[in-house]
Amino acid sequence: MNSFQFVNPTHIVFGEGSVDQVGKLTANYGNTVLLVYGSGSVKKTGLYDKTVSLLQEAGVTIHELANIEPNPRLSTVKKGISICREQNVSFILAVGGGSVIDAAKAIAAGVPYEGDVWDFFTHKATIQEALPLGTILTLAATGSEMNGNFVVTHWEENLKRGAGSLHVYPKFSILDPTLTYTVPRNHTVNGSIDIMSHVFEQYFSLTENAPLQERLCESVLQTVIENVEPALANPEDAAARANLMWCGTMALNGGLISVGVQNDWASHMIEHEISAVYDIPHGAGLSVVFPNWMKYVYKERVDRFVQYAVRVWNIDPEGKTDDEVALAGIQATRDFFTRIGAEARLADFGIGSDQLDRMAGEAVRYGNIGNFKRLDKQDVYNILELSL
Ligand code: NZQ
Ligand code: ZN
Repeated sequence: MNSFQFVNPTHIVFGEGSVDQVGKLTANYGNTVLLVYGSGSVKKTGLYDKTVSLLQEAGVTIHELANIEPNPRLSTVKKGISICREQNVSFILAVGGGSVIDAAKAIAAGVPYEGDVWDFFTHKATIQEALPLGTILTLAATGSEMNGNFVVTHWEENLKRGAGSLHVYPKFSILDPTLTYTVPRNHTVNGSIDIMSHVFEQYFSLTENAPLQERLCESVLQTVIENVEPALANPEDAAARANLMWCGTMALNGGLISVGVQNDWASHMIEHEISAVYDIPHGAGLSVVFPNWMKYVYKERVDRFVQYAVRVWNIDPEGKTDDEVALAGIQATRDFFTRIGAEARLADFGIGSDQLDRMAGEAVRYGNIGNFKRLDKQDVYNILELSL
């Protein structure tokens, strides 16, 4: 295990009915709020009306930025920055999934910054300050509700990039699992694969002597695997939704499950290049990329893939070589993703080979990626080709 520091300042309010606290929590940070939400799900479910009336009861003035796109766009972020500046907004409240929360974080960082907010995504500037923000989470997936990361798409240039800072950790996040009852089937699937993928990025590591971190990762994976199908069979399964929601938060909240362990993140960077060009859902892209990344790299450390196969998928190693056990675990991953209804190939989205070279090049624009195995442009190309 390596030396580490860990801090996570987000106040979590978890449970049915926790939305009732939004007025009081928000009013702690000022009385002029930008309410940020997506393309309509919060209006259909009544969450929008409820939030507005609770904020009004708390004496908060509301400005709004609606229609945040899944894979949120830079142009929309810039609209939010303008509203905040014009209206002297003191707090941002994101109500939605990862896209809405990420857009809110980008706005929060962009408001006090004099340059172009895109500078934070291109390594031209680092975030020195941000408006405070809070969230009401409606989809279990990204962990954005309790981390400092955000990902935005520059659609005109087909670039999707991430940024991060301690300054944009939400001040509070309200996690009411019953709000996820209305999540469409495909987004329950995509979100669950995203959660598992966040764990993979931290679990497949060359760092030695971190047994607690490994077991924490395995536990999150097993809990997701146990709860996805019950949530798909009955979208109002309270226990399954609660477990998925907490797994999502635990999987990516500043690295709690993998402190002191070197992470990988190459598969995420490859997926972001696919989303940047084809605008596919993040979790769906990961369903395609991750098993192929696993096949491409597992020989770097077969023992970790054997451990994964045995502990997470209960593969019996008796009479098998290490390679066979490792490959059985990778196949179990692929089969699970397929069984719950996720795409297995880029062709399932109508994606062919014409942009592979561009995507591989962009993935390594700032240098080779990944740590389990360092990947250069040719490696990324090979993984994308395996994914066709
Ligand atoms: O736009 P609305 O109408 O709200 O509909 C959304 C959207 O269409 C819908 N939805 C969300 N909650 C719902 C609901 N529909 C009905 N009932 C509800 N309760 O679901 C659709 C997808 O939402 P989105 O926010 O796009 O999904 P997700 O949470 O998976 O976020 C994906 C974005 O987060 C980024 C991804 O790259 C992608 O841009 N990521 C952010 C990370 C972070 N900040 O740490 C890490 C991740 O690895 C990821 O890269
Ligand atoms: Zn992800």
